[in-house]
Amino acid sequence: MIQANMGLIGVGTMGSALALNIAEHGHDVALWNLDLAAVDGLIASAGNLASRLVRCETVKALVAAIPTPRAIILLVPAGAPVDIIIDELIPLLSVGDTIIDGGNSDFRDTVSRTKRLEAVGLAYLGIGVSGGSEGARRGPSIMAGGTAATYASIAPVLEAISAKYLGDPCVAHLGPDGAGHFVKTVHNGIEYADMQIIAEAYGLMRDGSGLAASEIAAVFRSWNRGALESYLIEVTAEVLAAKDPTTGEEMVDMIVDQAGQKGTGRWTVIEAIRMGQTASIIEAAVGARVLSSQKATRELAAPLLVPAGTDIMIPISEQDLQSALIVGRVLAYAQGFRILNAASDEFDWSLDLARIAEIWRAGCIIRSAMLDDIVAAFRTDLHEGHLVLSEHFINVLTRNIAGLRRVVSAAVLKGLPVPALAAALSWFDTIRQARGTTDLIQAQRDYFGAHSFQRIDANGSHHGPWHSTSDV
Ligand code: 6PG
Repeated sequence: MIQANMGLIGVGTMGSALALNIAEHGHDVALWNLDLAAVDGLIASAGNLASRLVRCETVKALVAAIPTPRAIILLVPAGAPVDIIIDELIPLLSVGDTIIDGGNSDFRDTVSRTKRLEAVGLAYLGIGVSGGSEGARRGPSIMAGGTAATYASIAPVLEAISAKYLGDPCVAHLGPDGAGHFVKTVHNGIEYADMQIIAEAYGLMRDGSGLAASEIAAVFRSWNRGALESYLIEVTAEVLAAKDPTTGEEMVDMIVDQAGQKGTGRWTVIEAIRMGQTASIIEAAVGARVLSSQKATRELAAPLLVPAGTDIMIPISEQDLQSALIVGRVLAYAQGFRILNAASDEFDWSLDLARIAEIWRAGCIIRSAMLDDIVAAFRTDLHEGHLVLSEHFINVLTRNIAGLRRVVSAAVLKGLPVPALAAALSWFDTIRQARGTTDLIQAQRDYFGAHSFQRIDANGSHHGPWHSTSDV
């Protein structure tokens, strides 16, 4: 019996929020979850939206509740659970039906699932959904990959439920099969980097300047009124201001400093390196989470490894820290967009970088005021496609780079770790060095492996005078 317009499988935090969002936009949603209690709980708490939510006992019942051509959204954990549900759905669906994966799937899985489903006459859409549960409920940013026709069939729903930036829906069809999930992966890579540089600034204020969390909250709150205005800075100010209801202590001081990760940051780095790109700031952020999780080793090392002058009085000004964060954020975005550009070439996706920046301006975790300038740079004055060479960002970097240098220098002398900020500075100093030091590496490679090198004054490939003729 037809009871709904579309289906949704996976009623966890994200699934529940998205189901309510879809229902609020006038659609009846058939719901199934491995543990049906989650569906019951959602319907019980849905208020006047409950009548639009249809509890289905089985996947088969969910399929039967939707008219063809069907659209079924999956919000189950990435990896094997997605394949398990797809396997269950395939024999139940009809030619022309669409499965939409809204999880943080590896884009390579999305590419192969698309092929598998298209081979049996079904359509597949991989959508990256950003904004956490609040975003999913009130309006996420949605990055879609699939055929244009499949996207068009669901676009009205996605546009209705997405975040709006000055009326513009933050959703776009970005390319075929895995393009949407790839863009979401890089979004998360930038998210990791931005969170890490923010955490480093917090660490410098806490351990370098001796500020309490509530005092640091005030600094972040003031930064959120300037060039750093963004969701992540706002969130940071709020969490730093929170008190633990149990002890009355600053909440952040009660939290164990071990961060997990589900994979997207790591995938960004892996894919970047596969394509011959650097993602050094994102890599530093992933590495920082890895070391954070090795707390027992850090506790063992703390009294054994020589400290580096934490007592050294090098003041780090709030102004310099703000500059450091501005540069770190510009360069994290720049690295992310270089990876997207490389993937666009590698997979022939024709990614519209300006549009990607546009749909990140609302709803998603990395939304920030800076994205407006990034959109403008991509649309107007970009030099050779590199964000850091646009007139606007040259000026931003010029104004702020000295602050980042002072912050990284002070942190190094005090022995306070700033892996992402230091990576940002090194990347900046490398990219602006017209003559680097790989002449020596070329010489070494030629010395031990006869790899040859190019000369600055002649064409062709050459060898150095390292070995006597009799050695060769
Ligand atoms: C978002 C977030 C969201 C989540 C990721 C990252 O855009 O809404 O990126 O998808 O935070 O799962 O999680 P980890 O930090 O656990 O890798």
